[in-house]
Amino acid sequence: MSSDEIKKKYLDFFEGKGHIRIDPAPLVLESDPTTLFTSAGMQPLVPFLKGEPHPKGRRLVDVQPSFRTVDIDEVGDNRHLTFFEMLGNWSLGDYFKKEQLEWCLEFFTKELGFPKEKLWVSVFEGTKEVPKDTESFDRWRRLGIPEDKIFFYGVDKNWWSRSGPPDKMPAGEIGGPDSEVFYEFDRPHDPKYGEDCHPNCECGRFIEIGNSVFIQYQKNEDGTLSELPQKNVDFGGGLERIAASVNGDPDIFETDLFKPIIGQVEDQAGVSYAKDSGSDRSFRIIADHLRAASSVMSEGIEPSNKLQGYIVRRLIRRAVFHLSLLGVKDLSLSVSKISKPLWANVSEGMTQEAERFEKALARGTATLTRHLQASGSVDGKFAFDLYQTEGFPLELTLEILKEKGKEFSEEQKKSFEKEFESHKEKSRTASAGMFKGGLADSSKEVTKLHTATHLLHAALRKVLGEHVSQKGSNITAERLRFDFSHPEKLSDEEVKRVEDLVNEQIKKDLPVSFKTKTLDEATAEGALHFFGERYGKEVKVYTVGDSDGEWFSKEVCGGPHVLKTGEIGSVRILKQEKVGLGVVRIYAKAG
Ligand code: SER
Repeated sequence: MSSDEIKKKYLDFFEGKGHIRIDPAPLVLESDPTTLFTSAGMQPLVPFLKGEPHPKGRRLVDVQPSFRTVDIDEVGDNRHLTFFEMLGNWSLGDYFKKEQLEWCLEFFTKELGFPKEKLWVSVFEGTKEVPKDTESFDRWRRLGIPEDKIFFYGVDKNWWSRSGPPDKMPAGEIGGPDSEVFYEFDRPHDPKYGEDCHPNCECGRFIEIGNSVFIQYQKNEDGTLSELPQKNVDFGGGLERIAASVNGDPDIFETDLFKPIIGQVEDQAGVSYAKDSGSDRSFRIIADHLRAASSVMSEGIEPSNKLQGYIVRRLIRRAVFHLSLLGVKDLSLSVSKISKPLWANVSEGMTQEAERFEKALARGTATLTRHLQASGSVDGKFAFDLYQTEGFPLELTLEILKEKGKEFSEEQKKSFEKEFESHKEKSRTASAGMFKGGLADSSKEVTKLHTATHLLHAALRKVLGEHVSQKGSNITAERLRFDFSHPEKLSDEEVKRVEDLVNEQIKKDLPVSFKTKTLDEATAEGALHFFGERYGKEVKVYTVGDSDGEWFSKEVCGGPHVLKTGEIGSVRILKQEKVGLGVVRIYAKAG
């Protein structure tokens, strides 16, 4: 069964259960500043999981391309990817555990033909605040999963929210306990991974193929959880892993989704892809990274030092490096050849990035060789500096040192790891900051400032002219930051006029509401949007004022917003600065 057939069966099956098929969102959601990439099918649905009515109803299904930056370092084994497709079905306050678990099992066993004996499941063991999920346990048993194949796990494994377990969820974030299904491959447990095997064991005997999240909680400002007004189901299943299970081979790179690209890499390297050969890791990294980079770049993102562009850069660089490990000589040419079948219009940006890094590799290798000749060894600090200045990966430094017969002392290894760990920690904080940063969370303060940003945007256009357009924004509970196109900083008088105009709208206590429209409809009625080609087919248009009568602001946006402008209190511009040619940045706060 091909992966296309799996997708079709899934969509048809859930349509048959009364679900409406929705368009997947783009990977880069410009209308949602809270995150770099769409990382789960539920992401564009957050407002609806919180209770807003969805225009298509309460049962939805789709296949969502997803990207998870946190998994970059995991890629290389037989089952981790940065970019994948997620089969998803949702109940927005409609059906719950009974139907979900029944249908999930029916899809896997009847539609895909998995023998029930191959399926193991996990359920939530409970915390002080959230009860043990005995209902799912009972339902699985009644559905014929034997008790010894049902495992209870805690918040680390059986709780899902975009930010992880409950203590990591910011105020306003939603999540809940989940129940996962695992496919068991015909291979024995590897005791290297612990005495006892179980579904979440890392030995490779099991692969997770589906996760039913019962999204029914929201994090409060005081750190506790409260029940959402509705009980939701959010199911996600990785297409690549399901396809591997259909194949009966745990290596996702052997599925039809990867065969062609692995074949391309084989052609370029003149080496065959052989599992457990040592080079398989490089094959997998190249295949995943170029597939992921192509998908992101096809939405208009070019390699750069910032945000999504930086991730694309890292992906291409790592792919180039691993091509070099496979002995490929013309690295940038290989990158474009491998990417061509993935993305017909491989941009020059991709090849140029590969060329740049090819040069950096040569420079870094020379610096490293010189350093080795002069001092005979390399410490963690040097390796890290090389990484920071040349983008020269630690793996490459280690590889070269190995080739030159330098083996590391334990102490050296520790110093390497320490430097890199602290670096990784910093980038983790930065990406958490991104989730928190664009919009820190959906707490009251942040929501107020988010609506204030719309007022500010509209006021700037009224005072300065229609050339003003948003270039970026970043909102925390303390202040908003708004970048827009304008040749110079505002005069004191202009600042005052903008502030006054915003505060007038707040005093009027105007309603804030949204309607879902097509992008064309939104544009026709004057809604502001700046990344047109990257929105999904349907967008939310937020209006301050009367959307069919007199309004002050209309913008395409993901929300959330206050219900009435009066909730903001007042807005004060704190400072402004020029941040680039023709771009001005304003900081403002509420109250
Ligand atoms: N949101 C859950 C996940 O990403 C299920 O869709 O795993």
